[in-house]
Amino acid sequence: HGLLGEVWDDEMSSSMLGSRLRKVVQNYQAMNKYGVQLSGPGGVSSRPKLSGPELLCQLKDNVEVMTLTADLQPFSALPWAAQLPPKPLTSDLGPYKSCAVVSSAGSLRYSGLGKEIDSHDAVLRFNAAPTAGYEKDVGSKTTIRLINSQVMASDDHRFLSSSLYSSGVLVAWDPAPFSADLTQWYNRTDYPIFTQYQRYRRLHPLQPFYILHPRFEWQVWQRIQDNMAEPIQKNPPSSGLLGTVLMMSLCEVVHVYEFLPSRRKTELCHYYQRFYDAACTLGAYHPLLYEKNLVKRMNQGSDRDIYTHGRVTLPGFSRLNC
Ligand code: C5P
Repeated sequence: HGLLGEVWDDEMSSSMLGSRLRKVVQNYQAMNKYGVQLSGPGGVSSRPKLSGPELLCQLKDNVEVMTLTADLQPFSALPWAAQLPPKPLTSDLGPYKSCAVVSSAGSLRYSGLGKEIDSHDAVLRFNAAPTAGYEKDVGSKTTIRLINSQVMASDDHRFLSSSLYSSGVLVAWDPAPFSADLTQWYNRTDYPIFTQYQRYRRLHPLQPFYILHPRFEWQVWQRIQDNMAEPIQKNPPSSGLLGTVLMMSLCEVVHVYEFLPSRRKTELCHYYQRFYDAACTLGAYHPLLYEKNLVKRMNQGSDRDIYTHGRVTLPGFSRLNC
């Protein structure tokens, strides 16, 4: 592989995984918890491989970052509807010039990327990822925190009381059935996102807090599947890709850190935890392998940026002429 070490290959497939992880991924590929319906023959694309600019335009044209607002059914009829924001996230936030998306990967450890990350106009972080004690590697600015419903509901994350969640804008999501309307989802969420949302809003009424419309996550899923040659996991994309697409709709340029692993690549799952599992980087439940293939193809930065900084550069949707 020459002078540069290996960087993410955009044709990664489950056949390249170790046998343990390959079996786990294959099980998830066969499972269909959310009732995903495939479009097209076998649901697998036989179309020619799109170029990076074509993929970017396809994403821009087919995906909309939607959030729940107080006027939407069934929420409008519920007593707590007024806790939901009156306007969608995309009309309240941005536009930002330059943004950072900070994956929580273990390879951020000892990266020294903190200053660079903080130099962006807006920084998005995920779930329980802390900055305190890790400033040198991940920075300290948090503009948006994208959290999943599992983190909101689990006792060990202390979502309602931990100061980790109290800075910046919160955005939450929960996997919904593939073709469910909001009422069906409301009655059958994966985790109790709505009870936790109401509790949090009562405790922190001034902090902006949005909930993603579940249609968004499946629109992103469809972009991945339509551009892969094999069936991907029929589960929603990881927070990492959802947050990246969210920032592409708010920012002129988006820098994603350690989503495509750098020379520091490690089986350490998160930079903030002593837990090792290759599935964190390669995916098991989430179609993370394929998300990374897609991001690699859309990257406008160099392979060297990936190798040394774990950095991918993506244009914001406003900057694309499709
Ligand atoms: O684990 P968590 O979902 O909180 O991490 C945030 C995101 O960072 C993941 O959804 C995934 O996209 C990305 N990630 C990664 N490699 C890791 C850990 C996280 O790509 N080792």
